[in-house]
Amino acid sequence: MHKAEVVIIGSGIAALMAADEICDKKNVIVFTKGTINECNSMIAQGGVAAAVSPGDTWQQHYEDTIVAGCYVNNKNAVLELVKNGPKAIELMIEKGMKFDCDENGMPQLGKEGAHGRRRILHAGGDATGKYLVETLLNRLKGRAKIVENETAVDFLIKDERCVGVAVLDERNNLKKYYAHNTIVATGGIGSLYQFSSNVHTATGDGIAMAYRAGCELADLEFVQFHPTLLYLNGSCHGLISEAVRGEGAFLVTGSGKRVMKDLHSMEDLAPRDIVSRAIFNEMKNGEDVYLDISPVNNFSKRFPTIYENLVSNGLNLDHPLIPVVPGAHFHMGGVKTNENGETSIKHLFAIGEVACTGVHGANRLASNSLLEGMVFGEKVAHYLLNRDDNDEEIEVIYELPIGRNMPTKEEIQEIMMQKVGIIRTEKELQDAINWFHYHLSNDEKSVNLTVDVLVRLNMITVGNLIAQSALNRKESVGSHFLDIRETSTNQVIA
Ligand code: SIN
Repeated sequence: MHKAEVVIIGSGIAALMAADEICDKKNVIVFTKGTINECNSMIAQGGVAAAVSPGDTWQQHYEDTIVAGCYVNNKNAVLELVKNGPKAIELMIEKGMKFDCDENGMPQLGKEGAHGRRRILHAGGDATGKYLVETLLNRLKGRAKIVENETAVDFLIKDERCVGVAVLDERNNLKKYYAHNTIVATGGIGSLYQFSSNVHTATGDGIAMAYRAGCELADLEFVQFHPTLLYLNGSCHGLISEAVRGEGAFLVTGSGKRVMKDLHSMEDLAPRDIVSRAIFNEMKNGEDVYLDISPVNNFSKRFPTIYENLVSNGLNLDHPLIPVVPGAHFHMGGVKTNENGETSIKHLFAIGEVACTGVHGANRLASNSLLEGMVFGEKVAHYLLNRDDNDEEIEVIYELPIGRNMPTKEEIQEIMMQKVGIIRTEKELQDAINWFHYHLSNDEKSVNLTVDVLVRLNMITVGNLIAQSALNRKESVGSHFLDIRETSTNQVIA
């Protein structure tokens, strides 16, 4: 039997921050279903938003966060985030993080959409997530146990409380890990969609597990599409950070029209949902959309990761019009928690993108997600450190869910993109739900539960939940946009 005081599922910034804060006082096991480097935090480009510059205040950061979130944010969670932002940055610097600084040692601050001012700390130009994750991983060596290539299947529940997690190892063998407290930090759902900025492992596993355990979920309809993914030959090839528009790049159609002109006072730096819809509508009208990066000074130096990606995809800066398309980027909804990360199931906590504190409302403000991971990862750690948990012997009889003959990942991604995408209609949402129900109830061909089958079961479970939530919300708000004309809309870019 495997046992720990705290089990953490996931290896992004929130998971690693919590592990680093806890592991000297309680023993911790961190699981990841892939390798330790496979998480969205690792590929986060833009940076971390925090009110650290002399003229900035948490009040301004608060205002920008709730305006972008369309005022449906949980205000207390936003206060936690923005007030603790500068402290979280200091803590990361103490842990060894090196943000990009000017010659006077002051952090260089980038600008991104819907921020009223420059507020984004970054590292390695556009490799902020990699620097943060590596800083924490280096610290965790020898202090916490890290298990790679084991996939969480279900929470172990006894007497209505979580006592650990059941996992499948690489050979699809079932293992049980018991823990006083379990933290789910499995990240997002971007890979449910055909066009996505996310790592392929972001398949909503934590939400599916929480759902199967009867845990409360919230705001699942709010899926953020990032406006600018590199778009070549009908598919996406990585993110082009909003920070590029912060340095002057702008969106233009193939016919030469400025996409964001007259649509919003912040033009190309309007909130993401607005920019993504504007691009989507241009594409629907048959236009290609490009990011014109000619105004950006020293592009290859300021954005080395993006530059490398452009070059490796056969583009160069002699042709500064980069073809772009919006893609699924961040899930504002998830496992409902309070500000201490507590879910509706005792001893089960959620942090990072899988959690829904309500901090992001209907549309996350740029670069608030790494900050969320840092602030709430630290918070849950201290909450747990201040608790005394009994060391009782617990065993749970657990059976794996039945595997079914599921549609392929690609089929699920296509349905999500076309029917539960940037602009939604009630008819398309209902079509998607019917399709999900058919596959979820099709028990004609039950198969052994392998990791591959589990991932597709999770994708279909979460896809269905997102479509249901979207159908339940009758008004458009932020990232949830309902076209009441009921016409088919999304095929345009699929
Ligand atoms: C970006 O660099 O554009 C993404 C940053 C974020 O999602 O906050």
